[in-house]
Amino acid sequence: MKDKLQELEEMNRSAELGGGEKRIASQHKKGKLTARERLLLFLDEGTFHEVGKLVRHREVQFGLDKEHYLGDGVVTGYGKVAGRLVYVFSQDFTVFGGSLSESHAEKICKIMDMAMKNGAPIIGLNDSGGARIQEGVKSLGGYADIFFKNTMASGVIPQISCIMGPCAGGAVYSPAITDFIMMVEQTSYMFVTGPNVVKTVTQEDVTSEALGGASTHSTKSGVTHFTAANEAIALKNIRQLLSYIPQNCEEDAPIYPYEFQEDESRPQLNTIVPENPNQPYDIREVVEGCVDDKTFFEVHPDYAENIVVGFAKIGGRSIGVVGNQPAVLAGVLDINASKKAARFVRFCDAFNIPLLVFEDVPGFLPGTDQEWNGIISNGAKLLYAFCEATVPRITVITRKAYGGAYDVMNSKHIGADLNYAWPTAEIAVMGAQGAAEIIFKKEIKEAKNPEEKLQEKIEQYTDEFANPYKAAHRGYVDEVITPAQTRERLISAFEMLSNKVDHLPKKKHGNIPL
Ligand code: HXC
Repeated sequence: MKDKLQELEEMNRSAELGGGEKRIASQHKKGKLTARERLLLFLDEGTFHEVGKLVRHREVQFGLDKEHYLGDGVVTGYGKVAGRLVYVFSQDFTVFGGSLSESHAEKICKIMDMAMKNGAPIIGLNDSGGARIQEGVKSLGGYADIFFKNTMASGVIPQISCIMGPCAGGAVYSPAITDFIMMVEQTSYMFVTGPNVVKTVTQEDVTSEALGGASTHSTKSGVTHFTAANEAIALKNIRQLLSYIPQNCEEDAPIYPYEFQEDESRPQLNTIVPENPNQPYDIREVVEGCVDDKTFFEVHPDYAENIVVGFAKIGGRSIGVVGNQPAVLAGVLDINASKKAARFVRFCDAFNIPLLVFEDVPGFLPGTDQEWNGIISNGAKLLYAFCEATVPRITVITRKAYGGAYDVMNSKHIGADLNYAWPTAEIAVMGAQGAAEIIFKKEIKEAKNPEEKLQEKIEQYTDEFANPYKAAHRGYVDEVITPAQTRERLISAFEMLSNKVDHLPKKKHGNIPL
């Protein structure tokens, strides 16, 4: 027995050492933690249970018959975050650069299957040189197995990817299918082909960081939803993200105890919207004025900043917030903003997270760039996402609700449950100047003083439409409320809607304009 116990202990120790002390030191030197250190930091203390610790690769070619590492470059298992079950895999760069072999892929698939069967989120910590080159097609097949499982799990359990090192080639497509991506600044990158291939094919000179670093993907491509200055912050932020979302699509997000207090210190909503309708303000202040203290957790903060999306709690309940941002491009809807918000809305709907929309939008962005790149089909993504969302949905129109954007931004017509407007709301087909120039074109042209006539018509149109009351008279707005009343109204409205049941027509799946 003693010998057997010793043998087991040695194997466990060997597995825990991954690719060995030297490679661990090299990993640390790059400012990176090891796969196991990351899991210890991420999970509640003492909750990690490993699955598949002694798995070895089967390949024997190219010297792989001589080199065996127990665990085969990925640590898989389950544990808890804030007391809630999660499944994890953490790639070990010290073993063949964390590259994905057949066995490595099988370990990830096994843990994904467990996550699906038991209805809990899966979090992948990615740090890998991609397909294990020595294994050829077996490794490619392993990736495809993972992609397939990612797709099957989509909308069933939350899937989160944290990129903590290289992520190249087809390896980027598993994270891309998951719900959220976090990248660590300076030490992680994602690309389909690296700088060398880029140089050969397009003659471009580009560094890994510029091609696919955290900053590139958070600002230019929008591939990553979050970035963090270091690994510890990245893992802490994923823990926070998990606090807003349910374990699976059959459950609701956890409700936290909350007591409404009048004297809460938060932005004073009555004074945020400026008197001049063309003056910008920060919609985040409105969000923070409405939701529970310090609970707003922004998603995609550096991408398509003309729309703000994120999670928050209101009266202790998780909600997804979507708000036009008048401080950037006047809050106009463009291609990137539509895509960003559409994906967020679909995540919330898939996981039973109610939606709160703040609307101040002058319309869709005009121009050849937008038209040629498909603002029609991209804008339709957001429209489609709202139309098919069956979670409780509330809109607050703070100022402009113009044109098609009025319809798109969670209007009653496309299924919102409650729409509120502030007295500062302007609900019309377009801004007063544009409207006056079109409908009074002849009158203005023929006037003695066309400029004076134009001003007169602008004022007339403004008086008629720059308010919420026409919409309220028709019931398109359920109530005109003061900004200061908003938080209390929202808390009780979301509580009232908490048992909402709504079904979509039976279908295989819809055909969202992709
Ligand atoms: C096997 C690999 C490997 C790989 C790295 N290693 N990548 N082993 N297969 N894909 C090994 C190295 O041999 C080395 O082993 C150790 O990992 C660390 O690698 P280094 O190169 O020393 O580290 P570093 O300088 O930090 O560079 C990391 C790297 C580089 C940028 C990831 O290793 C690299 O470019 N690797 C190849 C990336 C790649 O082209 N992958 C295939 C992508 S295509 P020792 O023994 O020295 O420690 C793909 C197709 C998937 O993934 C398609 C799915 C649809």
